This record gives sequence, C-alpha cells and structure tokens, in this order.
Amino acid sequence: MLNAEQRAIIKATVPLLETGGEALTTHFYKMMLSEYPEVRPLFNQAHQASGDQPRALANGVLMYARHIDQLEQLGGLVGQIINKHVALQILPEHYPIVGSCLLRAIEEVLGKEIATPEVIAAWAAAYGQLADILIGAEESLYKQKEEAAGGWRGTREFRLVRREQESSEITSFYFAPVDGQPVLKAEPGQYIGLQLFIDGAEQRRNYSLSALCDGQQYRISVKREEGGKVSNYLHDQLVVGDTLQLFPPAGDFTLAASDKPLVLISGGVGITPTLAMLEAALQTQREVHFIHCARNGAVHAFRDWVDGLAERHPQLKRFYCYAEEEGAQSADAVGLLSQDVLGEWLPRERDVDAYFLGPKSFMAAVKRQLKGLGVPEQQSRYEFFGPAAALE
Ligand SMILES: Cc1cc2nc3c(=O)[nH]c(=O)nc-3n(C[C@H](O)[C@H](O)[C@H](O)COP(=O)(O)OP(=O)(O)OC[C@H]3O[C@@H](n4cnc5c(N)ncnc54)[C@H](O)[C@@H]3O)c2cc1C
Ligand code: HEM
Repeated sequence: MLNAEQRAIIKATVPLLETGGEALTTHFYKMMLSEYPEVRPLFNQAHQASGDQPRALANGVLMYARHIDQLEQLGGLVGQIINKHVALQILPEHYPIVGSCLLRAIEEVLGKEIATPEVIAAWAAAYGQLADILIGAEESLYKQKEEAAGGWRGTREFRLVRREQESSEITSFYFAPVDGQPVLKAEPGQYIGLQLFIDGAEQRRNYSLSALCDGQQYRISVKREEGGKVSNYLHDQLVVGDTLQLFPPAGDFTLAASDKPLVLISGGVGITPTLAMLEAALQTQREVHFIHCARNGAVHAFRDWVDGLAERHPQLKRFYCYAEEEGAQSADAVGLLSQDVLGEWLPRERDVDAYFLGPKSFMAAVKRQLKGLGVPEQQSRYEFFGPAAALE
C-alpha cells in the first residue's frame, strides 16, 4: 500500500511523466527487449517501430498516476488492458521484468536529481499496486475461461480445417481443436490469440473471430499486410491439416444486449468482428444498419454473404462506400465516407448503438461524424487492431 507521502510524490511526478512519458517508455522498451529476450515474442515489433505500443503503455501509466486516489475511475482502461494481456498470455512472472525496467528508465530519463530514492520508492510501490490489480483481474479472467464449457488455459492445439479466399487480400481460416472437444463460445466481437513459430522465432498475434462461434470451430479472416510476418505466413504457408496453438478468446468490444437499432461501421479488414455481431443481431428482432467502406470492389470481402442476409432479413439494411471511382458502379457512395452520407444511412432517430472499426484515420472520422450526427458518445464503441490510441 502507498502511504500519503508516496501518493503526493506520484501526483507531483505526473506532469513530468506527461511531458516525458513517451520517451520514458520508449527507453524502457529498448532496455527490456534487449535484456530479457524471453519477453520479446510477446511484443509485436511493428507496434514498437510505429511508437503505438510505447504510447499506449505511457497512457496507461499516466492515467493510473492521475487517478491514484480514485482507482475505481480506471474501470474501462483496466478492462481493455487485461483483455489484451490475457489474449497474449501475459503472466504474473512477467510483471517484475516490466517493473524493474520501468523504474530504471525513470531514473535514467529524469536524472538522479529528480528521480531521488524517495521518488523511485514511491513509483516502485505504485507499480506494485497497479501490477497487483492487473495480475488479480487477469487471473480471474484466465480462471473463468478455463472453467467455462469448452474453455481452456494457456495454449491448445488446433488444426486448420478449411481456408477460403474472401477478396483479393483477405482469406478466412477455420480452426478446430485437435482433441475433438467443444470450444469456448466466444462473444461476438471477441478475438483469439495465435502462437506461431516462423523461421524459428515465436510470434503472437490477435485476430477477431469473423463468424459467430458454433462451439466447435473458430473462423478468422486475415488481410495480407505488405511485409507482415504472420499474415503472409498464414496466406502463403498454412495449409489444411497444419496445426498451431491458440489462446482462448478474449476482448471487451462485444455486442451488448439492447433493443436499440444497431449500426455497424467498418473499413477494410475491420469488417471481421462486425460480421459476428451481425449474425448475432439477426437472431433477434433488432434493426441493423451495416455500413462497410472498402478501397474498391476487388478488396471488398463478404459482400455476397451480407447481400444474401439482407435479402432474407428485412430488418437489415446494408450500405457500401468505395474510395476509388473505378468499378464503383455497385457502391452506394464513392469517395471517403462523409458525414452527410453517413447521416443518410443512419436511422432517422439517432438513439442507436454504434460499433466501428477500421484504419485509425477512418475511425477518427467516424467517431467525429457520429458525434456530429447526434449519436450519444457513450453509445459509440470501437476497438483497435493494434495498441489503443487517441482518436481526437
Ligand atoms: C484485437 C485485434 C484484432 C485483430 N483482428 C484482425 C483481423 O480480424 N484480421 C486481420 O487481418 N488483422 C487483425 N488484427 C491485426 C493482426 O493482429 C496483425 O497485427 C496483422 O495481421 C499484421 O500482422 P503481421 O505479422 O502480418 O504484420 P507485422 O509483421 O506485425 O507488420 C505489420 C506492418 O508493419 C511493418 N513492419 C514490421 N516490422 C517493422 C519494423 N521493425 N519497422 C517498420 N515497419 C515494420 C510491416 O511491413 C507491416 O506493414 C487484429 C489485431 C488486434 C489487436
Ligand atoms: C502495470 C503494468 C502494465 C501496464 C500499466 C500495462 C499497460 C498496457 C496498455 C495500456 C496496453 C495497451 C492496451 C490496448 O492496446 O488496448 C498494453 C498492451 C500490452 N501489454 Fe501491457 N501493461 C503492463 C504490464 C505488462 C507486462 C508485465 C507485459 C509482459 C511482459 C505486458 C505486455 C503487453 C503486450 C504484449 C501488449 C500488447 C502490445 C501490442 O499490441 O503490441 N504488459 N499494456
């Protein structure tokens, strides 16, 4: 537990961390990844290179420091962190590694004059408290997933039983467990963790489930990323019959039960969790507006499937927006999605539940547009296909 003096130190160092927070965590990552090779596979190197992961951690630490007196206000942030951690199998033994590197980075970046032994001791106590909160919350999620029907803890071996090309750059992969037993029924919107060994090096990645889980298999749909390690491996190397390890599904971007009209908005491969949500919503009487933006018809995945659903379910209205003019006759709008177009596609009554996902710039625009069109902010939900980032 932190004493009053330590709390005061933490609060006093928040402004310093706010100006130097990112440098601090960048420094910390470099140190940790070079000195502790055992944690390297947990972190996606591309997210380090873009700076998104150091930024997300800096934000997490700062939020915590700002709310040191009212930790209950961190609710949403903790939920998001623990789900990402659980889907990548972050374990209690990893926390002391992060803790010692973080404290050394604070000392090195701030200099010994500011980072006195008292300041370091206060941060050590604060880190310990935050780590305990996260470890405890993560353990209850691990336990819950282990005890649920079809659930498990850690890795479980799955076999690729089917693959299906969905567009020029997206392919679906269907995985069934080698033990032949049922699988945990994921909630629509959740993602699984894949553990792969490529050229001898371990890689972990999250992929959203792109179909409602039937309790027997999981489906993911992966976009080929230029220069991407795992997506290219899956597209080019993984064949039916191959096996790999999966971590149980996790994620808090899930479809909440509600009678309000549902608006699903996606850009590119961001369509994947909205497909599972769409399937789930169509099992109810809910009105659904499914809006998808793609560069063009060639890269637009699942169009026939969604069109087929729209024919069978009058409660579903679907709209497509293509960025490129060429071959865009079959789109409902051409160019980048604008607020005017989105306004025409939303239900007239703006008391809706909106879920959106896509590239960061797309999400920033959609967030702004939904607000501008009068959708209550707390009814607008989103997820990132990478470390969380500010959308302002
Ligand atoms: C919750 C969640 C759900 C997701 N769901 C999906 C989904 O349904 N479908 C999907 O396709 N993806 C999804 N993703 C993204 C997915 O996890 C991977 O990030 C994605 O497939 C890219 O991985 P990769 O290994 O192919 O690319 P990476 O090897 O991670 O590379 C990504 C990009 O960064 C570049 N890069 C790599 N290393 C460096 C470096 N050192 N310096 C500079 N640039 C570099 C690469 O050239 C490439 O363009 C999801 C992510 C999350 C967090
Ligand atoms: C108190 C300690 C910690 C805090 C405050 C913290 C905070 C965060 C935050 C804010 C994110 C981003 C969440 C998101 O994108 O939605 C994150 C992701 C992540 N964390 Fe932690 N974390 C802590 C400990 C750890 C530990 C001990 C490890 C393992 C060594 C770890 C590994 C990861 C990984 C691998 C990701 C995903 C990175 C990515 O998407 O590239 N974290 N963490």
